[in-house]
Amino acid sequence: MDILPKLNKILINVFLESSTRTSISFDTAMYKLGVNVITFNKDISSINKGETLEDTINTLSMMGDIMVIRTPEKHLVDKIENIVDIPIINGGDGNGEHPTQALLDYYTIYKYHKNKLKDNNINILIIGDLDDSRTIHSLVYLLEIMGINNITFFPYIGKNSKNIYDKYTVIDNFDDINHNMIDVVYITRQQKEREIEENNEHNNFVLDVKKCSKFDTECIFLHPLPRNNELSIELDKDRRSVYFEQIKNGINVRMAILYELLKPKNL
Ligand code: NCD
Repeated sequence: MDILPKLNKILINVFLESSTRTSISFDTAMYKLGVNVITFNKDISSINKGETLEDTINTLSMMGDIMVIRTPEKHLVDKIENIVDIPIINGGDGNGEHPTQALLDYYTIYKYHKNKLKDNNINILIIGDLDDSRTIHSLVYLLEIMGINNITFFPYIGKNSKNIYDKYTVIDNFDDINHNMIDVVYITRQQKEREIEENNEHNNFVLDVKKCSKFDTECIFLHPLPRNNELSIELDKDRRSVYFEQIKNGINVRMAILYELLKPKNL
């Protein structure tokens, strides 16, 4: 990284919804690039005086060079993009998309299964909340762009979107999986905070050592984290579990994204 010219820029981190990994990962990526970060704190901002989010964002865009926004509102980032002149990165919008997570997920898969990805000979099992998991939405979108279509879904919860995934294999029973074929298992938590009261399903599914014993030795297990009860902590000791490594990979990926967006025009 020493060969990169110093960027005299400011990132403004606007997290209007809880975050541990994404917000701190953007901070870390910026610090590693030698760039400054301002963290917007909505609780002590003029939003409390009735200022609209649009005016708030517009104001912040006058002070920073780039902005990351996480919001509970789907499509908000698309709307904001049209009112400001600086690059806006979607850090997760409700049950919409989470594109930088998809890139780091893909990069993690690439590190382990480069050749299989290249030959489009990779089988990915996605387990989780198809309706509300934005990381699943963005990963599937990215895999589609990359021409990867051997995807199997096991929606242990959130089955309303099942038909959207019709062109892939969707299974109702975990035992129907052809374990030997799977190269990547991607699991997410139930997005409880997005469910409407009367729709409150309960998830009993747990990916554990026993279920994973049937997968190949080269198969990797990914999770964007945070986890609830769907991913057993006993699996942490399994060398195929790469969900904490994903966090490290995320820093590199975000450094690359930020550098690309902030670098001098002639580079
Ligand atoms: C995810 C998110 O916020 O969508 N977390 C993350 O960014 N690593 C996943 C989740 O909250 O379940």
